[in-house]
Amino acid sequence: MLSKKMTKALNQQVNMEAYSYYLYLSLAAYFDHINFPGIAKWQRLQANEEQEHMMKIFNYITERGGRVILTDIAAPKNDWTSPIKAFENALAQEKKVTKAIHQLYDKAHQENDHASAIFLQWFITEQVEEESSISLIIERLRHVKTQAGLLLIERELNER
Ligand code: FEO
Repeated sequence: MLSKKMTKALNQQVNMEAYSYYLYLSLAAYFDHINFPGIAKWQRLQANEEQEHMMKIFNYITERGGRVILTDIAAPKNDWTSPIKAFENALAQEKKVTKAIHQLYDKAHQENDHASAIFLQWFITEQVEEESSISLIIERLRHVKTQAGLLLIERELNER
């Protein structure tokens, strides 16, 4: 059975993943609006992943006899001054998530909750991948000097 503290912390993480889902949906809407449907598709798929993360934690709480409590999801930003700023916003959110997951992992150890620690390892690995893939896109966007270069990224992200 999950401790009260662990249940509360995992519920907060459900909310954080829901916010990430919302943020990527907002990014999808932005890229659709500025006519980059390929990048918008990438954002939609990313949003789907966030929903999966949220549900993984949701199901885990239930499986361990905890109670899922859903709370308000904050509104994400809905406009950015450039594609790069949009991806930087996504990276900042991923960094926050990484920090929160690491804190959850520490908490699991403090509580001698080995099952939660093992459960959270998947998220620790996942965050390395998420931060790395977004950082790579930002790096590439930084080097793009022409509209043609941007369209190349658009085409590649469409293939996700
Ligand atoms: Fe669920 Fe991208 O962190």
